[in-house]
Amino acid sequence: MSEPHPARMGHIAGFSTSPSAPPIYQTTAFDIPDLDVLAEIYAGSTVGHIYTRDSNPNHSALAESIAMLERAEAGAVFSSGMGAIAAVAMTLAGCGDHVIVGRSLYGVTLKLMSRLQQQFAVDVTYVDACVPNSVAAAVRDNTKFCLIETVSNPLLEVADVAAIATALGSVPLVVDSTFTTPELVRPLEQGAAIVVHSASKYLNGHGDVMLGVAAGSAAHMKAVRATSSVLGQNANPFECWLTQRGLRTLPLRVRQVCETTAGLAEYLSTHPQVSKVYHPSLIAHGTHATAARLYASGANGEIRTGGIVSFVLNGGGKAAVTKFMQLLATIPFSPTLADSRTTISHPATTSHGFMTKQERTALGIVDEMIRLSVGLESFEQLRDELDAVLTQLDQ
Ligand SMILES: Cc1ncc(COP(=O)(O)O)c(C=O)c1O
Repeated sequence: MSEPHPARMGHIAGFSTSPSAPPIYQTTAFDIPDLDVLAEIYAGSTVGHIYTRDSNPNHSALAESIAMLERAEAGAVFSSGMGAIAAVAMTLAGCGDHVIVGRSLYGVTLKLMSRLQQQFAVDVTYVDACVPNSVAAAVRDNTKFCLIETVSNPLLEVADVAAIATALGSVPLVVDSTFTTPELVRPLEQGAAIVVHSASKYLNGHGDVMLGVAAGSAAHMKAVRATSSVLGQNANPFECWLTQRGLRTLPLRVRQVCETTAGLAEYLSTHPQVSKVYHPSLIAHGTHATAARLYASGANGEIRTGGIVSFVLNGGGKAAVTKFMQLLATIPFSPTLADSRTTISHPATTSHGFMTKQERTALGIVDEMIRLSVGLESFEQLRDELDAVLTQLDQ
């Protein structure tokens, strides 16, 4: 017998009991018995995996869970939310095509669209996604998709997915449901063709993963996976595993953050140091009526749109924001959202920092705007911390 070589050690044989938690298939490739089996896997007649850039059991398990939650035929996973959006966009549209995009989406999504326009000659029309007629008016013969967010980042504008899908006719509607999750809305049931999420946010929910997911028809998902394979946007198996674990508590987490966030929005809207609050539960919010119609899913009919509320300090520019950040005792400035702990971010310098000040101001993203991502702490704890800081800003 030859000497054992470390390069061949550590493989675990199958055994008669199975693990209670799913295993992590942290592998680059899979051992394939012969060329016949390889051909069967390629043809889809035998279930198997070949190379993790294309597929992996942890990808498949999570994709299936997302498809079940979104009531889709199939799902797909990607290296990040942007990976998902880029793969969908580059599958549906190419050089010379036209796309319609909500004008107040997550900043990096807008950046991607501008790149598609500049580098790949995709014509982009920006619309107010809260006005289905403006979407209908933008449709052309060569329009390949329309992209909107269910509830936009960071202005919390609520889109009426069903009305937009109707306005688009046969043009596929792609919906980013990162803020809302399948707990609050299922866009495919309202006529969308594809739903995408940054799973780095609520689906995982613990601030320790970069991942994206999509769901839709089997044909769309097959095509989108093929794009992501050539672009190398494959998800990491461990991050799929973590997200699968995060999903188990999604209903509980979403219920709690919705409740706390609506309470904090109400509190902030009465504070003299705050000039404006963006949350759809407030009557003053531009899309309150749409939210009341589509998101009144709380136990007593409260509007539930996730754990984000944005607010504007009463003047003082970035210096006031810096002071606010420094005074906070436990809430960190962390440019993400949907962590299990509460965090704040500053859209004007992070997600929308690539825009000119005029472009941002036209959208309402001013220097004094703070985006609060509400975590699992109690309402009272968060209100008291915010109250203490806002009171000190006054001095
Ligand atoms: C609404 C929305 N979509 C997409 C993304 C991009 O996701 P990721 O950061 O996982 O690439 C984000 C990130 O913040 C987001 O807020």
